[in-house]
Amino acid sequence: MKIFIDTADIDEIRDAAAMGLVDGVTTNPSLIAKTGRGQKEVTLEICELVDGPISAEVLATDFEGIVKEGKELAAWHDNIVVKVPLIAEGLKAVRALTAEGIKTNVTLCFSAPQAIMAAKAGATYISPFIGRIDDISGTGMHLIQEIVTIYQNYDYDTEVLAASIRHPMHVVEAALLGADVATLPHKVIHQLLKHPLTDAGLEKFLADAKKTAGA
Ligand code: E4P
Repeated sequence: MKIFIDTADIDEIRDAAAMGLVDGVTTNPSLIAKTGRGQKEVTLEICELVDGPISAEVLATDFEGIVKEGKELAAWHDNIVVKVPLIAEGLKAVRALTAEGIKTNVTLCFSAPQAIMAAKAGATYISPFIGRIDDISGTGMHLIQEIVTIYQNYDYDTEVLAASIRHPMHVVEAALLGADVATLPHKVIHQLLKHPLTDAGLEKFLADAKKTAGA
């Protein structure tokens, strides 16, 4: 499973990339807003740090607007993936952008029928939002299972990108179900590394080493 980082924070991306843990980056308008900087400036800086797919989201919601904006975003850098909302106009735009060789990430997916439509439109990635489904007392992971199974049944090329990840078990479960990618907040990347036995074991090794230091 590929690991993307879900942030526009340059320090967070630099930290995770230094561990070799970043195959790509996803951003959205809320994440860009948190930086207090412009989308183009931040996105280009991310492209310098990570050599992989970098999702940048359109703000237009009509076909012509999404295609125009998508082409502009894609022209910024070869690694840009145009993030498009899962609405009818968005899927029309995905079809047009795909025909021009531009990669797309269809975002805000909350159901299997939506995911089928996105694959039919030619999306490069589909982003089911697991955590937001859990937030309203659903089971986001069921959606991952449904989409992975349906895409396998019909050999769709669209990759399943598990998004809105909240904790390490989301990552493990998405991996067990065969999601192609999980996009993780920086905090979850560090949570994945933690184990109390690792910390306790290291503490003991260092304490024991001190006993014979200089011997
Ligand atoms: C996906 O690409 C989105 O940026 C993201 O995963 C949304 O997550 P949230 O529900 O934590 O905002």
